[in-house]
Amino acid sequence: MQFFSLSSGDRIPALGLGTWKSAPGAVAAAVKEAIIAGYRHIDCAPIYQNEPEVGQALAEILKTGTVARQELWITSKLWNNAHAPELVEPALRQTLADLRLDVLDLFLIHWPVAFAPGVLFAQKTEEYIPLAEQPIIDTWRALEACRAKGLVRNIGVCNFTVSKLKALCEQATIQPAVNQIELHPYLQQNEMLAFCRDHNIQLTAYSPLGSGDRPQALKKKDEPTLLDNPVIGQIAARHGITPAQTLLAWGINRGTVVIPKSTNPGRIRENLAAAELKLDARAMAEFVALDCGFRFVDGAFFCGKGSPYTLNSLWDKESHQ
Ligand code: A2P
Repeated sequence: MQFFSLSSGDRIPALGLGTWKSAPGAVAAAVKEAIIAGYRHIDCAPIYQNEPEVGQALAEILKTGTVARQELWITSKLWNNAHAPELVEPALRQTLADLRLDVLDLFLIHWPVAFAPGVLFAQKTEEYIPLAEQPIIDTWRALEACRAKGLVRNIGVCNFTVSKLKALCEQATIQPAVNQIELHPYLQQNEMLAFCRDHNIQLTAYSPLGSGDRPQALKKKDEPTLLDNPVIGQIAARHGITPAQTLLAWGINRGTVVIPKSTNPGRIRENLAAAELKLDARAMAEFVALDCGFRFVDGAFFCGKGSPYTLNSLWDKESHQ
């Protein structure tokens, strides 16, 4: 397994298991299967509504001695309804209790979007809080305090644009270690990649396979699929690997962490093998032409009627469709 070094000196495994969309009934088996296969990195979040099952799997696998806690990298996230500074530590403690851990390796602000306390998914105006009223920097200071208390080893963000990252970096005492964003050949985000390289921020790629199992309501009409792309198919065939492995190897070859989700034992192993693969220079060059700025997860679900958030404010007009 390759690792990438974070600003803290910690090393994050380049490939982890995604758990978004893994049903509570299936996620425990997937986590155990993954760790037995050799995964050392699990990406979690309370909004995935399966952390208690992930925690049960972690407790069981740790008990068998297959792996030690310090060999595992566990990431989780702060949901939108706990941005108020006084709610950050309780939310983190709830996640730690659910995951049955004393400390997280990485804790991320899940979205630059705030909901009223207790609201799982905002539907009307009064259930949203505009960022002007609940500034990210106040939430961030609460994450910094959690790190100072030893509840989490590294802190970061998700779904931040370059301009939101810049603003945070200017105000933060502890710089964000990671930005977890949607990244794949249709959304290559080269400006972000350059900014993060310059600022020692590690990028993690979510939806690296195009998240084909998103609920229908979150899909656009006629959206492209990554796994069926003919160029990716040709690169895969030339290297004697699968399209999924090609996508994951591309991400790791660019220096980004990838967190493919699977609950299928064969695909869990197939994806792990991608961490050892190198693509040739011709393949990396062929990928360049696939960039079309397409987001599978565009955040439109935060921008409905009555919301103070818009696609333009979410992405600061950076590339999206
Ligand atoms: P499954 O869980 O049945 O394996 P993403 O990580 O981009 O969110 O994509 C997850 C989707 O990709 C799921 O539908 C998952 O299905 C599927 N998937 C995961 N690994 C592979 C693979 N190696 N080949 C094809 N599909 C895969």
